[in-house]
Amino acid sequence: MSTTTIPRRAKVLVIGGGGREHAIVDALSRSPRVEKIFCAPGNAGISLQAECVHLEDTQVDELADFAESRGIDLTVVGPEVSLAAGIADEFTSRGLRIFGPSRAAARIESSKDFAKALMAKYDVPTAAYRTFSDYQEALEYVKSGSFPTVLKYDGLAAGKGVVVAENLEQADNALRDMLLDDRFGHGRVVVEEFLSGPEFSLLCFVNGTDVQPMVLAQDHKRAYDGDEGPNTGGMGAYTPLPFITGEDKTYALEHIMKPVAAAMVAEGTPFRGVLYGGLMKTADGIKVIEFNCRFGDPETEVVLPCLKSDIFEIFWAVASDLPIPDAEWSDGAAIGFVLASKGYPGKYAKGVEIKGLANALSDPSVKVYHMGTSLKKFQDGDLHEDFDGRGHSLVTAGGRVLMVLAQAPTLAEAHAKALAAVEKVDCDNLFHRTDIGHWALNE
Ligand code: AMP
Ligand code: GLY
Repeated sequence: MSTTTIPRRAKVLVIGGGGREHAIVDALSRSPRVEKIFCAPGNAGISLQAECVHLEDTQVDELADFAESRGIDLTVVGPEVSLAAGIADEFTSRGLRIFGPSRAAARIESSKDFAKALMAKYDVPTAAYRTFSDYQEALEYVKSGSFPTVLKYDGLAAGKGVVVAENLEQADNALRDMLLDDRFGHGRVVVEEFLSGPEFSLLCFVNGTDVQPMVLAQDHKRAYDGDEGPNTGGMGAYTPLPFITGEDKTYALEHIMKPVAAAMVAEGTPFRGVLYGGLMKTADGIKVIEFNCRFGDPETEVVLPCLKSDIFEIFWAVASDLPIPDAEWSDGAAIGFVLASKGYPGKYAKGVEIKGLANALSDPSVKVYHMGTSLKKFQDGDLHEDFDGRGHSLVTAGGRVLMVLAQAPTLAEAHAKALAAVEKVDCDNLFHRTDIGHWALNE
C-alpha cells in the first residue's frame, strides 16, 4: 500500500451480491469521498448504484487482478466464503487495500472449535462445550447430558450446521449427518450447553485492539410468524433493542468484544474488519452464541442506514491500520422485512417478476435492499415493468429476495411504514413475516 493519505475521489470494490452488500454500497454512495463503486457480482438492485462485475465472491485471484487493473483504492468484503478463501491475504500480499480479516482471523467464524477454544482460554462467557470427531464418543457424551442440547458442525455450513436437539433421536440423527455421512465434508462437532434468553447482534468495527461498536440489532431466524417454522438465513431485523440496556451493551463490549479482539492480537492473528457478536442475554448474564467475521445479513440492512458518519473513512482507517474514527449513529428506529421466495428455505422457483418497487419507495423513509434479484429482458410481448429504464424487468433470483425497511423515530412507526411498503410489492411468489420486532413491540 503506497500511501495512507485518504483519497478524495476513491474507487471502491464491494465483494458479494446480497442485501448486506446492497446496504454497504448504499452507505458508500453517501460518502463524498467515493467517486465510483464496483460490486462483484452484485445484483439487479445494486446495479442501479454501482457497476456490477461478473466475478464470483470466491474468485480471489481474478478479483485481485480486477482491483489491480482498475486502480481500486479500497475493497470491502461482504461474505464469509471470500474471507475463508483468503481474499484479504491475497490482496494484502499484492499491496491492495482491503477491509476484511485474514483467513487465519476469519477462523473465529469458520471454525466453531477455534472460537470456543479462544473463549475458553481468555475467559469469555459462553456455553460450556466439548468437541468430537468420533460419532460414538459424541453420542455417549450426549446421552450422559440433558436435553435440549446443541450440536454445531465445526466449519462453514451456510447457516445449516447448528441443530438444537430436543431428544436423543434428534441428536443422534444430527450426529450421523455431521460425523458419519459427511454431509458438509469431513469434520468435527461441537456439543454445547443449551442456553436461553433473547438473542441480539453486536457488530463492531475492529482493528487489532481498537473496537468501535455499531447500534444493536436483532435477527429473526425462523421462517414464519411467532418464530415458527424452519431456520432461515434471517427473515427480518430491527434496531434499537429496548430489552438490552446501555449497561448490557457496555458489558458486552468490555467483557466480550474487546477481550476477544485483544485475544486475537495475542494469538498472532489480529482481526481487521467487522466482528459480529451473536450474543444472548441469559439469566446468568450475557453470553456468546457465535462470532462471525463479517457484517451480518439481514442486520446490516437496518444498522448501516443509522450510521451518520462517513463509512468510507471508517473502512479506510481499518484497512490502513489507522485508529478508527468515532462514529455517529442516529438514535431512531429501523425495521426491515425480508421478502423470500415461497418454499424457502426449501426448494423454490426463480425468475418470477417483481413489480411495484417504485410504489413501495414513494415513502422517503423506506429503503429496499435487494438480496436475490436479477434483470430479465422480456421478449414475449406481455406487459412487464421496466425496472432499470433500459427495458429490463426485475425477477427473483434467490431464496431471500428483498429486504424492505423503514426508518422512523419509534419502532412502532417504523414497523407500520415498512409493512405498508411491503404490501405495495407485487409478486406472486414471495412471502414474508409480519411480526418483525415483536420482542420489542409487545413488551
Ligand atoms: P449459530 O449458527 O451458532 O448462530 O446458531 C444458530 C442458532 O442456534 C442461534 O441463533 C441460536 O438460536 C441457536 N443456538 C446456537 N447455540 C445455542 C446454544 N448454546 N443455546 C441455545 N441456542 C443456541
Ligand atoms: N444474521 C445472521 C448472520 O449474518 O449470520
